[in-house]
Amino acid sequence: MSKQPSLAALAALVAPPAGSPLWRKDFVFGSGTSSYQIEGAAFEDGRLRSIWDSFCATPGKVLRAENGDVACDHYHRFDEDVALMADLGLDAYRFSIAWPRVMDEAGRPNAKGIDFYKRLLDSLERRGIKAYVTLYHWDLPQNLEDRGGWLNRELAYRFADYADLMTRELRGRVAAWATFNEPWCSAYLGYGNGHHAPGHAQLRWGAQAMHHHLLAHGLALPAMRANDPGAQHGLVANVSPAYPVTPADARAVTLFNAYQNAWVLDPLLRGEYPADLWALWPGCEPLVLTDDMATIAQPLDYLGLNYYSRAVVRSTGPDSFTWVHPEGVERTTMDWEVYPQGLQDILEQFKRDYANLPPLVITENGCASQDEVDASGQVDDTQRQTYVRSHLEALSRAMQNGVDVRGYFVWSLLDNFEWAFGYERRFGLVHVDFETQRRTPKLSALAYADFLKQR
Ligand code: NOJ
Repeated sequence: MSKQPSLAALAALVAPPAGSPLWRKDFVFGSGTSSYQIEGAAFEDGRLRSIWDSFCATPGKVLRAENGDVACDHYHRFDEDVALMADLGLDAYRFSIAWPRVMDEAGRPNAKGIDFYKRLLDSLERRGIKAYVTLYHWDLPQNLEDRGGWLNRELAYRFADYADLMTRELRGRVAAWATFNEPWCSAYLGYGNGHHAPGHAQLRWGAQAMHHHLLAHGLALPAMRANDPGAQHGLVANVSPAYPVTPADARAVTLFNAYQNAWVLDPLLRGEYPADLWALWPGCEPLVLTDDMATIAQPLDYLGLNYYSRAVVRSTGPDSFTWVHPEGVERTTMDWEVYPQGLQDILEQFKRDYANLPPLVITENGCASQDEVDASGQVDDTQRQTYVRSHLEALSRAMQNGVDVRGYFVWSLLDNFEWAFGYERRFGLVHVDFETQRRTPKLSALAYADFLKQR
């Protein structure tokens, strides 16, 4: 039997403590998704093949050879999904645009694909939900990968064209634009170690791909700002703090920070790559042309941070480190340690590290757990409830210590296609039965809704 908390007790399952700045009504609470993970409709309305379609079709790359062909069928059910968001009382919804839907192979606009996002925005507007829109959440058109993908500098200019098109088409309707979601994953996992599409595995390529992502961001920003001056413009990075096994492992912490955080944040906020990264990976420096770093380091209106867990590291040499896997700690089904204190620590670290740190938004935070609909039709996702509450507590502490954070988005609205792990890892506030496409809000969703109503 699952427990049946009273409605009044529900909010308490996730709510931050009384007096927390998170109770202020102008703090934005939402939830997020991304195109390939939920849309489905892979062959409709002129959508091009993406590198994730190809990767999923490559044997051995994705658990149980699953793919995003149908996913949550959100392309057809978006209005029902937005109604669900309204029921939950979300202030904002973060989603991404599929580049393969909105341009054809010649780079011309695809009106049918663009229209989908216009109808999605209509639906959000009708319900008073703000849109946080990411331009690139990893689904690159395959024809552009065929021309070298992110190893080809030319792609940065094609991205700027795409960003220009979308900000012209959707101007005035988006609260916040992000050029990229987690360039670290797209560049490093995609080109440096091969765990993600397109599956290349050479460190030097990872570094060059990263440079072209960041350059694309910098090239795109001026037109985005000119086209949609009322919106906020930024980028979303995945970040993680590191902790040494012993005090002798301080160098490992520095190297991990360069690799995981500063690789993206230093170019954006300081106009240079962290030298420690090239100590870790000698000879992997990308080719950087004159003015590239200035193009990359333009002011941002906000920086989105995705936080899930921490790293514990040990030195293995003067310029090398390894991860250790702490025992006896709580983990999610991703095998990621639940470590809310890390959110406070990384936020306070960035405030110390970067004098020009822009306002922050926690664009992703959440956990994957084994969630099932029980006999009473309920999904009691105890771990997610505790996860959200403890992270909101950590976020409160960081804000009380002076870190400027403006919003928080639970990853994810729906159970969805978790990349190389397929549909097995459920991150949703809302359970999805992938046979029937039935949506069932989990208890965490009801608690989140109750908290949002009580503000
Ligand atoms: C990062 C990504 O942005 C998102 O696509 C993914 O599903 C979550 N983290 C969980 O791994």
